[in-house]
Amino acid sequence: MKKRKLGKSELELTTIGLGTWAIGGPWQYGWGEQNDRESIDTIQRAVELGVNWIDTAPIYGCGHSEEIVGQALRPIRQKPIIATKCGLRWNAAREKLNNLNPDSIRRECEESLTRLGIDRIDLYQMHWPIPDEQIEQAWEAMARCVEQKMVSHLGACNVTIVQIQRLQKVFPVAAIQPPYSMLKRGIEADLLDYCGKNNIGVVCYSPMQKGLLTGKFNTDYLRTLSPSDHRLHDPNFQSPRFENIVAMVDELKTIAADCGKSVAQLAIAWVLRRPEVTSAIIGARRPDQIEQTAPAGDWTLEAEIIDRVEGILKKYA
Ligand SMILES: NC(=O)c1ccc[n+]([C@@H]2O[C@H](COP(=O)([O-])OP(=O)(O)OC[C@H]3O[C@@H](n4cnc5c(N)ncnc54)[C@H](OP(=O)(O)O)[C@@H]3O)[C@@H](O)[C@H]2O)c1
Repeated sequence: MKKRKLGKSELELTTIGLGTWAIGGPWQYGWGEQNDRESIDTIQRAVELGVNWIDTAPIYGCGHSEEIVGQALRPIRQKPIIATKCGLRWNAAREKLNNLNPDSIRRECEESLTRLGIDRIDLYQMHWPIPDEQIEQAWEAMARCVEQKMVSHLGACNVTIVQIQRLQKVFPVAAIQPPYSMLKRGIEADLLDYCGKNNIGVVCYSPMQKGLLTGKFNTDYLRTLSPSDHRLHDPNFQSPRFENIVAMVDELKTIAADCGKSVAQLAIAWVLRRPEVTSAIIGARRPDQIEQTAPAGDWTLEAEIIDRVEGILKKYA
């Protein structure tokens, strides 16, 4: 699979990284029940397919996702690059709690290393910049984890340009992790350009918009989601937006079919058309899902396809 350099770091990431949010199983923002054996098989299959990095977070299943990633990695000799996060803790009801206190971050880092069963985290990311006034002190604590060789590089999720500039004064920002998909194009306004000019890596999350851009969603399929699947509370999965998205995806299917590909592959390759994007983080819960989507990492969209997609996106904007 193609690789792109992550900003100024020495890391070469495959254009696809495996996302392990859903693999965490139930919590406040879970995706319903998840079979751990299938999760481990999915992670191992992704590595076999050439995916060289995995994105996880302590909050995904309140530690469970990191534990499953750790279990899946144990028999793998050539370990993939590991990215995890900090700044989100949880309570007894498995609800998230923002916490950027330096002591908490230090403890989180130690706990992540234990759950993942590794000596060093390759990319350590601030999960949410909340509360805003504490991002510098959190970043200082994360930088101390680099100095103590618990972490190699620092990244920040869900940040603005101003926040990146504030963090850069404390310690280099190797990468940001924003949302980016055909349905969420906010970073095209300025962030992508800024990161390109300043050589900051961009690893984009939810390129298939939590599965909506895979082409499998319709009203019947929506009814099969577990009541504990957080997507049921996401406005994109509610009327009338949901029906509008389904109609748009139906039109995108024609373009994908003309190329002999699936619409999920089109959605991923579309994100990767931007040279500022280092890698797309794609979620998978079963081996067949990553088998289906991984080839998108090597698909370069032609200008004519990009134009046709743009026409449809404008129509449904
Ligand atoms: N930093 C942050 O704040 C943040 C936020 C969100 C995500 N992320 C990261 O980004 C990763 C990816 O985002 P995401 O998980 O939201 O969404 P995504 O990649 O847009 O969608 C993944 C979901 O689509 C479905 N799917 C995947 N492959 C499929 C296939 N071949 N056919 C049909 N359905 C398929 C699966 O769910 P079902 O089978 O259940 O439909 C899967 O969990 C996360 O796992 C996480 O690591 C980070």
